[in-house]
Amino acid sequence: MSEKTVYFSEERSEEAVIARMDPDKVDPRLYRVMTSLIKHLHGFIKEVEPTNEEWMAGIRFLTDTGHMCTDWRQEFILLSDTLGVSMLVETINNRKPSGATETTVLGPFHVEGAPYIENGANICLDGKGEPMVVTGRVADTEGRPIAGALLDVWQANDEGFYDVQQKGIQPDMNLRGIFTTDADGRYWFRSAKPKFYPIPDDGPVGKMLAALGRHPYRPAHIHFIVGAKGFSPITTHYFVPGDPYLTSDAVFGVKESLIVDFVRNDDREAMTKYGFSQPFWQAQCDFVLSRAA
Ligand code: BEZ
Ligand code: FE
Repeated sequence: MSEKTVYFSEERSEEAVIARMDPDKVDPRLYRVMTSLIKHLHGFIKEVEPTNEEWMAGIRFLTDTGHMCTDWRQEFILLSDTLGVSMLVETINNRKPSGATETTVLGPFHVEGAPYIENGANICLDGKGEPMVVTGRVADTEGRPIAGALLDVWQANDEGFYDVQQKGIQPDMNLRGIFTTDADGRYWFRSAKPKFYPIPDDGPVGKMLAALGRHPYRPAHIHFIVGAKGFSPITTHYFVPGDPYLTSDAVFGVKESLIVDFVRNDDREAMTKYGFSQPFWQAQCDFVLSRAA
């Protein structure tokens, strides 16, 4: 037995596995990641002491999760989302100077290639829902406007579905668009007030949520990716206040600073000004970007 050999025992199980890696032959970051993973995994097993049947149920769950994955459905990401891990990774990787807009998860419904549209355009192509005007300003951490910033916007429709979930039912690129800020850092667009909706829950993650007494809903929100030359881009959402799921988002995406005012406006003149024939909602969605490192 060499000096390094550790035979397997319950007490020293993690040491035995870690000792099989040769730190001189393993990438240092991979060594650190695997050492920690093995320690936590063995610690978990020692704490829970699963029966063989329970361990096999876990393996089956992960197998089913893999089988559910396709090019457009990523059940493992959904698992990471619903366990709060996506938000933790996202938050750790987006520590920003104070004052910069907070970030949240990207989610599976962003698409590349949304159209560039002029300010004021209405991105609601299916005509459903309560009208909404979103106005805002993009500024740096000193409050100076950022001209030419790009805002990639997407949201679900009044029935809680993204266009990509209802191909052939919703118009392509419904509720999507890329806007550019003017010289004062301002942008605006018209749309429909978003609604809460369930994350895809017809797979193993949905079964897990049900088994845990959890619902699959996300509170109503508008997604944004905001970027400008020389600044760190941010991926975030703004949430509608008063939504029943704000405090129990299935993917833990809500940060308090991301809940903005939505004000109902039933002034006739204002309705005419924005081209609406019914009362509408006004949301103010401002962003603060920090300089790129
Ligand atoms: C979304 O907001 O689009 C989303 C985020 C995480 C999981 C599912 C959906
Ligand atoms: Fe969403």
